[in-house]
Amino acid sequence: MDATISIFFFLSLLFIPFSSSSSSDRPQNFIIHVSKSHKPSLFSSHHHWYSSILRSLPPSPHPTKLLYTYQHAINGFSARLTASQAKNLRQLPGIISVIPDQIRQLHTTHTPHFLGLYDGEGIWQNSDYGDGVIIGVLDTGIWPENPSFTDSGLPPVPNSWKGICETGPSFPASACNRKIIGARTFYKGYESHDGPMDETKESKSPRDTKGHGTHTASTAAGSVVSNASLFGFASGEARGMARNARIAAYKICWKSGCFDSDILAAMDQAISDGVDVISLSVGSSDYASQYDHDSIAIGAFAAVNHGVVVSCSAGNSGPGSFTAGNIAPWILTVGASTIDREFPADVVLGDGRIFGGVSLYSGEPLVDSKLPLVYAGDCGDRFCHMGSLNSSKVEGKIVVCERGGNARVEKGGAVKLAGGSGMILANTAENGEELLSDSHLIPATMVGEAAGNKILEYIKTSQSPTATISFRGTVIGSSPPSPKVAAFSSRGPHYLTPEILKPDVIAPGVNILAGWTGSAAPTDLDIDPRRVDYNIISGTSMACPHVSGLAALLKRTYPNWSPAAIKSALMTTAYTLDNSGNTINDLATGEEASPFVYGAGHVDPNRALNPGLVYDIENSDYVSFLCSIGYDSNRIAVFLREPTSSDVCDSKFATPGDLNYPSFSVVFHSNDHVVKYKRRVKNVGTSADAVYVAKVNAPPGVEISVSPSKLEFSGVNQTLSYEIVFASDSPSLSIASQGFGSIEWSDGVRLVRSPIAVRWLKGQQYTV
Ligand SMILES: *[C@@H]1O[C@H](CO)[C@@H](O)[C@H](O)[C@H]1NC(C)=O
Ligand SMILES: *[C@@H]1O[C@H](CO)[C@@H](O)[C@H](O)[C@H]1NC(C)=O
Ligand SMILES: *[C@@H]1O[C@H](CO)[C@@H](O)[C@H](O)[C@H]1NC(C)=O
Repeated sequence: MDATISIFFFLSLLFIPFSSSSSSDRPQNFIIHVSKSHKPSLFSSHHHWYSSILRSLPPSPHPTKLLYTYQHAINGFSARLTASQAKNLRQLPGIISVIPDQIRQLHTTHTPHFLGLYDGEGIWQNSDYGDGVIIGVLDTGIWPENPSFTDSGLPPVPNSWKGICETGPSFPASACNRKIIGARTFYKGYESHDGPMDETKESKSPRDTKGHGTHTASTAAGSVVSNASLFGFASGEARGMARNARIAAYKICWKSGCFDSDILAAMDQAISDGVDVISLSVGSSDYASQYDHDSIAIGAFAAVNHGVVVSCSAGNSGPGSFTAGNIAPWILTVGASTIDREFPADVVLGDGRIFGGVSLYSGEPLVDSKLPLVYAGDCGDRFCHMGSLNSSKVEGKIVVCERGGNARVEKGGAVKLAGGSGMILANTAENGEELLSDSHLIPATMVGEAAGNKILEYIKTSQSPTATISFRGTVIGSSPPSPKVAAFSSRGPHYLTPEILKPDVIAPGVNILAGWTGSAAPTDLDIDPRRVDYNIISGTSMACPHVSGLAALLKRTYPNWSPAAIKSALMTTAYTLDNSGNTINDLATGEEASPFVYGAGHVDPNRALNPGLVYDIENSDYVSFLCSIGYDSNRIAVFLREPTSSDVCDSKFATPGDLNYPSFSVVFHSNDHVVKYKRRVKNVGTSADAVYVAKVNAPPGVEISVSPSKLEFSGVNQTLSYEIVFASDSPSLSIASQGFGSIEWSDGVRLVRSPIAVRWLKGQQYTV
């Protein structure tokens, strides 16, 4: 051992004069895609081969370390290398691609009823609640003692499960059961980047010390727990979407985030372990990177090729355009919307005016009389960071803090620290009327931008402004209407491929109650000593596992359906009207949302059970898709994990819009007024001789023709094709820069609906 080390140092000392010690040559983690068939027979395993490749590289002053060997999600390995070593590696035979590791971030009783799910009927009954389906949850791990993970009444672990329950500090073998059937950790990428983890702060076992993974796993597949609540809020029966599905927890996220090298290792393992669905509420908060540089997209490609549905959060980077992430067409991309449940807490001003807000505050109420009201911007910091408020100005008062800059619950902590009595958290234009309920540390409520502006105006114009907050508990109802798309929910248009519509669907992601860790507060603040079994949080992270659970129900009902067919069923049955009968609203604008915001619409599981037709996609179609966006055989090799011959693209699509997607995104250029897309639909209904007729709802300025406009099937599982032609009658681009419509195929009973989004682009420049 010692000898090896001294030789290593010797070599590295020799080498130092040559390797510039510039910061650009600091080692970092890389993911190396290797052609499977290039392995020389000399090596007994791929691992030996990869180790030998690494030893053949020019030495570096830093240890060159093999992190993971991958064989299912990709073919290759990850390693810590200097930039010059990586460059050198790229030249070697058999190396397909070398991509830097990236850090990703984590993007929650009543939702079953909101989704129309009831015992003994519909998709729950038909799918036996997802029994035997395995959902791989790649997240912060799991808190096995949470009541949602009881396995009472569940049949044995399915035979298809090939994974393990990795024990570790505070994670005994008994942590797994017939609900949590597997658990693993992946931290080599994290430790290689950040150094050894501080095990007093996080657990090197699958145990979830953050809460996020417990929340997502229980949302997807939690068992039935009666009387769950957060401090009495949202009380009722808590259960996951697929209460008989099984959970395999893959812990990939750590204190500083989630590393691609670790995520890929987990995907690699999940594929080999035999999961049916991968639920990944993780992503980049930057604009999407090219598919062949996006490790989640690459890993998901392999998973989908193995028949695994990959359901991902779209991200919380809204409301800006092009912000949606996890947007590869083989991924099921989920945005977040509200449900019909609120936690109202009203602001009552000294002049008698009342403004609606929301809160999960559960401590002592405010004194009855009104308290002096101040604006945080006049007391040191409008965002209310910890320690930045002047206590002589806020003591005993209610403080109005603005949203943004720091965590919402931290603002209440800052007001408390400075001696304030209460807080009004006011939105700015950034978040509009989007209200998120938080379990604040002091009496506090959150109001929208309009109310916020009026309260600030009152403070400015009143001699001695006062207010109080009136907490009203949990209210379920149709006012305000729901669903509405959350302002934070990331949106389209598609950043990479304008011919693909993303996100795919929206699902409940605002104020969701689900299981929580026993080792972190509901607010995630260190100063908060409270511990809870259930927490209410918001994010596309919460929307994703709802859809993962629904996909599990469909997988159980139709075990032979491809991931694309399952996705199609969820998309073509989604709805776009809220419970007041109007188009679903966007909380960022208060106006109607569009398919760029909600995709095909809000999932409707009982209808997804009987979609009538599905838009299926073969694995080879995805290759034709990659060819159509200009990828050459080298770039496609990353996905196929083999060097591919240059004729791989001989059968490419005329346009990426020809991918058999269940939605339509059309781009007109100034010299291109007619766009044609091909589609094919499979009759998955019970009637062999079903006849479907097209009904088109064209965007203004666009003429749409469908041929044939009638599909007469003669068998179950038969596939028929159609062509849809979009013609812009506004070549001058003078009308609208975007427009929306839909195409619906109906057999008189079922409605197979696809959204249509069109944009007019000037040359390569976006006009919007
Ligand atoms: C439900 O929980 C609440 C608070 O945790 C408790 O007060 C109540 O008695 C429980 N009800 C039932 C039916 O268990
Ligand atoms: C805090 O406010 C008081 C009076 O309201 C003022 O005298 C004092 O200078 C302020 N302190 C700081 C640090 O701004
Ligand atoms: C249709 O295809 C599915 C597999 O996708 C199969 O299970 C089913 O038996 C087929 N039905 C008929 C009538 O061929």
